[in-house]
Amino acid sequence: MHAHLTVKQAPAMHNLDLPSYLEQSDQVGERFGRLKQRPVVLEVEQLGKEFEGAHGTVTALRDINFRTHRREFVCVIGPSGCGKSTLIRILAGLETPSSGRVLLDGKVVHGPGPDRGMVFQGYTLFPWLTVKKNVMFGLLRTGRGKMVAEQEAMQWIDLVGLGKFASSYPHQLSGGMKQRVAIARALANQPRILLMDEPFGALDAQTRARMQAYLLEIWQNIDITILFITHDLDEAIYLADRILVLKAHPGEVNELIEVPVPQPRSPAQFLSPEFLATKKRLEELIHPPQAEEDINADHLNMVRMVSVDDDVESVF
Ligand SMILES: Nc1ncnc2c1ncn2[C@@H]1O[C@H](COP(=O)(O)OP(=O)(O)OP(=O)(O)O)[C@@H](O)[C@H]1O
Ligand SMILES: [Mg+2]
Repeated sequence: MHAHLTVKQAPAMHNLDLPSYLEQSDQVGERFGRLKQRPVVLEVEQLGKEFEGAHGTVTALRDINFRTHRREFVCVIGPSGCGKSTLIRILAGLETPSSGRVLLDGKVVHGPGPDRGMVFQGYTLFPWLTVKKNVMFGLLRTGRGKMVAEQEAMQWIDLVGLGKFASSYPHQLSGGMKQRVAIARALANQPRILLMDEPFGALDAQTRARMQAYLLEIWQNIDITILFITHDLDEAIYLADRILVLKAHPGEVNELIEVPVPQPRSPAQFLSPEFLATKKRLEELIHPPQAEEDINADHLNMVRMVSVDDDVESVF
């Protein structure tokens, strides 16, 4: 007696008839052409970082090279521990590289500076200051008078849609609102680049989707370059002009993908062939096919299941 093994498969992405993620419509190709003509804002050259740990040296980053152009939106994606946060902390000047260098507008970066704004996953607002005072904080430090700082802060708070909450304290706001204040605070200093490390990672799916739309709207309206780290493939494709894909141990550049989805973006594009083709490529890079020994182990398990089925009478 032979058991019939019916393999039920969820509709796998590789079975869909998708274009290549490398295919670009004329509109998208022309946009990338124009984008590459813009001045380079950020240059990362031969960047490496090693940490000395209890179990020896950890190479967090190795030979990272890329550049971003003015008003470009670049997402960084990669498996956990591949060095994404280390990279962004080096760009922010919070960590020094072991090798290589970072240039902003052609000048080597040493330490933090107002030319780079940071937004992290955790809520980093000062809890004892109101929304307005949180946003004014950096403005006062860069020497603006109180009146000017207040006026400018209110413009940024309005931009993120929180005008009515200017006198609220952080604990009176939702997670999404707090992150909007954090974005306003980072943008108020008019940085050249906004560095964002999983800024929406702690938000629920709906709030997250709204925050993505807010961020795109802000980005379209002001002169800002954005480097955005995420774990979420959909988020990366929806937001980015290009996606820097890292691999782990050591953290190296796997691929720099030009997202073929036309701009401006809308949630309706999530199911477009270009979107799915890019997602399929990211899946391949981030979750590569199982190693041969794993496949053999799976096969063995399947054979065991089949033979149990076959010999069901003799087993009992
Ligand atoms: N201060 C540190 N001291 C020692 N090792 C560190 C330090 N910071 C990071 N590392 C190591 O460097 C590697 C990269 O860490 P990093 O936090 O940059 O990864 P990540 O890609 O941001 O991960 P995740 O997706 O989980 O946030 C890890 O192996 C981590 O253990
Ligand atoms: Mg991280």
